[in-house]
Amino acid sequence: MRLGILVSGRGSNLEAILRARPAGIEPVLVISNRPGVRALDVAAQHGVPARVLRRADFGGDASARDAAIGGALTDAGVELTILAGYDQLLVPSYFEAFGGRTINIHPSLLPSYGGAGMLGLAVHRAVLESGDRETGATVHEVAAELDAGPVLSQIRVAVRPDDDAETLAARVLEAEHALLVATLEQLAASR
Ligand code: GRF
Repeated sequence: MRLGILVSGRGSNLEAILRARPAGIEPVLVISNRPGVRALDVAAQHGVPARVLRRADFGGDASARDAAIGGALTDAGVELTILAGYDQLLVPSYFEAFGGRTINIHPSLLPSYGGAGMLGLAVHRAVLESGDRETGATVHEVAAELDAGPVLSQIRVAVRPDDDAETLAARVLEAEHALLVATLEQLAASR
């Protein structure tokens, strides 16, 4: 299954995929909406072609930029795209230009702690403030609404009494990597 990966920053999920080489998955294109990010170095180290498509390159027009992202994935023969730390909402022109499947990974047990503002450490702070004893990560289909598509897989992570947002984020991130690799293998096997 030809895989496209959309990134914006650190790229640890991208790195987990490229290191694990999930069975049945061929990473063919990385697209970043930001130049100079670590994820682009990760792609280069693993010899995966990468492109930067910024909104600024399209006169600030999100619709034109997202059509270009979808078009680049289609041109590369991508069948499945994973948003691996991609930090912008995809607009409808993306889905018009890319007919394949798009999935996202999110650092909570959706539907809890999803939606507007639930990014990065804010997710883990909200979990700690709620007193929940358990959190985790979710891989879901991407629908037009943020964090709203059907759930494909989840992994559970215990919250420890001495956790702060940083320690919890680090433990959830490790679980994310395992979940993502396993989910990609399942998707490749079941298509
Ligand atoms: C991850 O926590 C992912 O779930 C979320 O953004 C973060 C990206 O991290 N969507 P990385 O860039 O893969 O290291």
